[in-house]
Amino acid sequence: MSWTREDLHRLIKTKLADRLFIVVSNREPYIHISSGDEIQCVVPVSGLTVALDPVMRACGGVWVAHGSGTADRRVVDDKNRVMVPPDEPSYSLRRIWLTREEEDGYYLGFSNEALWPLCHLAYAPPIFYEADWNTYKKVNQLFADAVLDEIGDRQAFVFIQDYHLALLSRLIKAQNPQVTTAQFWHIPWANPEVFRICPWGEELVDGLLGNDLLGFHIGYHCDNFLNTVNLLMEARIDYERSAVIHDGKTTLVRPFPISVDFDQISQDAASENIKREMERIRHTWKLDDKIVGVSVDRVDYTKGIPNRLLALDKFLAKYPEYQRRVVLLQLAEPSRTHIRKYKELNLEIDDLVEEINWKYQSGDWKPIIYIREHCSPPGILAFYRLAHFCIVSSLHDGMNLVTKEFISSRVDEDGVLILSRFTGAARELTEALFINPYATDDFAETIRKAIEMPKRQRQARMRKLRHTVEQNNIYKWAGNVISELTNLGL
Ligand code: G6P
Repeated sequence: MSWTREDLHRLIKTKLADRLFIVVSNREPYIHISSGDEIQCVVPVSGLTVALDPVMRACGGVWVAHGSGTADRRVVDDKNRVMVPPDEPSYSLRRIWLTREEEDGYYLGFSNEALWPLCHLAYAPPIFYEADWNTYKKVNQLFADAVLDEIGDRQAFVFIQDYHLALLSRLIKAQNPQVTTAQFWHIPWANPEVFRICPWGEELVDGLLGNDLLGFHIGYHCDNFLNTVNLLMEARIDYERSAVIHDGKTTLVRPFPISVDFDQISQDAASENIKREMERIRHTWKLDDKIVGVSVDRVDYTKGIPNRLLALDKFLAKYPEYQRRVVLLQLAEPSRTHIRKYKELNLEIDDLVEEINWKYQSGDWKPIIYIREHCSPPGILAFYRLAHFCIVSSLHDGMNLVTKEFISSRVDEDGVLILSRFTGAARELTEALFINPYATDDFAETIRKAIEMPKRQRQARMRKLRHTVEQNNIYKWAGNVISELTNLGL
């Protein structure tokens, strides 16, 4: 039996009893934007928020996050709160306001120009500015103040998300030591040799050790973290229990591979709306007699988008019989576009798409359809369902939830997943076809294999993949985190 929303709800009620449940992240799960006189509510493209929203729907409570939408201030009450999701209000979203300078230093600067490249092995050098680090500390304090205000004199369990808030647990506990905190780090943790170049590494690690429980996707990242503590700090490491004892306090370090709401996605993907949307896409892009590949990414240099385009180029050159027959639909969500590295990446991708299409196009066929826009979640499901194969070619990725969304959407038990070995997902999804995104020839060969794989084999693999994701869904992930904490008697 797989975990359901109700199971998680029951667990929360029995284990957390009267404690307030608070999730904190930088990115908010719903963004309100002005569109003429209207206000639109959009769901951002973030693995983190997609995964946590169903958990919050099940648990209720408060989600504290940065209010980044142009109409966010117009919909909140005097405590900066709004109930979400709009169509089924189930929990409260408390928004934090940042000035442009704060956003610049804390989000674009220290989080995404220093920590993001530091933790991903994608050969982008981190940029460490002391001013950004100071802003990062200041903004972590702003988040702490909002969380403490929400808690008041209640008992609370605070579940902190990701690398934007490494100092938060310490700051909360400095004011209110009764609060229990867990933190989940959604990206990889680098090995100590890589991590030690961070000028404020010790303070960051010390901040994370304010938590009672610290989670990563896979055991390898937990080991990297423990070894980093060993290198940088005066702390005792209990490798047996996977725990750090520091200043008389214990932090458990555990792997929790994150997932998606398998049942909900399967149900949505089977709906009439999605079938209609599939027809529309087929018609718009003239896909009726085509073999369709799909990729869905934020435009980020960790996702290996150029590597994938080069592999497709190689494949078409080596197997010309597939020219005019194969189409790669690349859905690309613009991301962090104020950062130079991301601007450069956009230009590089535009060039490659143009070059490859120019090289092969014939009549009204071109091999790459590049769709750079925000696509709503139902729209994405229709793309997944159309795919003969889906490519995830990250150079390094904590988990990668596109893999699990693709699998959950394939209610027809068909479709091949081509997956980078360097994702956390590769550890679980063993029925995928694995690639090294840097090895272009092998990658091209794997595209051929995916296309030529007999239907029975495709289905057998997809059935197993679906079973894995169904059994290890997002409710089980959240249930495991909460059970681990309550087992500690916290
Ligand atoms: C990754 C991070 C998330 C983040 C998401 C989108 O998945 O782990 O914390 O929300 O990227 O990035 P953004 O900068 O747009 O929030």
